[in-house]
Amino acid sequence: MNTNILDMETVALDDSECALVIIDQTQLPSRAEYLHLKTQGEIWTAIRELQVRGAPAIGDAAAIGIYLAALEIDTNDYAEFAQRFHEAADYLNSSRPTAVNLSWALNRMETVVKNAEGKSIPEIRSLLHDEALRIKQEDIDICKKIGEHALTLVKPGMGLLTHCNAGQLATAKYGTATAVMYLGHQKGYHFKIYADETRPLLQGARLTAYELSAAGMDVTLICDNMASTVMKNGWIDAVFVGCDRVAANGDVANKIGTSGVAILAKHYGIPFYVCAPTSTIDMNTPTGADIHIEQRPAAEVIDMWYKERMSADGVKVYNPAFDVTDHELITAIVTEDGIWGTSKEP
Ligand code: MRU
Repeated sequence: MNTNILDMETVALDDSECALVIIDQTQLPSRAEYLHLKTQGEIWTAIRELQVRGAPAIGDAAAIGIYLAALEIDTNDYAEFAQRFHEAADYLNSSRPTAVNLSWALNRMETVVKNAEGKSIPEIRSLLHDEALRIKQEDIDICKKIGEHALTLVKPGMGLLTHCNAGQLATAKYGTATAVMYLGHQKGYHFKIYADETRPLLQGARLTAYELSAAGMDVTLICDNMASTVMKNGWIDAVFVGCDRVAANGDVANKIGTSGVAILAKHYGIPFYVCAPTSTIDMNTPTGADIHIEQRPAAEVIDMWYKERMSADGVKVYNPAFDVTDHELITAIVTEDGIWGTSKEP
């Protein structure tokens, strides 16, 4: 297939089919194919199985998904509609626990229903339709603003390291951590980008390296255990990562391995920037220790990428999907509203 992945929409609503349309990210980069999801079960599974993933994209998908649920609630009674809508939101919210954008987007959709008492059910459905598309459009605008702020932190020709995929495939466009790369690339900044492969699900190798090279950027894939070496070599001037939840004290949950990269960056005196929409900030979670870290199946570590199971039978596996980076290790958090941190240097 010759389609450039960047011309495909990560998440979309097909009104005529009443379907959530996503790129099946589990098949990338070998196959770039859309999935058309109609039932709540299909949408729940797509989020759970990472066919759509990345905090903002999960929020966009959930907003469209819950709108589709509203189309299926066949009642004209507001109280019954609101109750069944709430149950559907709870169900989608149970698909993944760490990225706060999921519950944030569902809460926004529930607020539409709460504020619409007295309106007809078709009117409420129409309001939900518009809110879902607004959430997606805001994601694009916010990522662009994050990129504009982050551009003030870099210079042309810099070496940038990123972990996991906080790119276009994790958002509706630009990405969070990659927005600075896309906007810098448009300005001819010629960054040298290093993408951690990101064990065990390889989002860095399969997604970040893919989309940045599709954009024509200079991107080099490294194994996770090479981050120290490229930093020591002097090839990295700044680290940019995304995140799934920012606690009230500034601790940040992001893809497993992020905290190790932050510790290395501190050691080598390299600025470590976290890029996040303000919707990822969760003031109800006091510290990183209060963030629910998703645990995932052992098969992701020992089976998935190998012809045969690569570890002996009976070996125990620990597979947390995220870790928490202490706020002391973070140079700044870049949001659509500005840069939050004590200094531009570590
Ligand atoms: O398990 P994933 O692939 O959903 O994890 C994604 C990440 O950790 C991203 O860095 C994060 O969601 C930010 S996406 C802009």
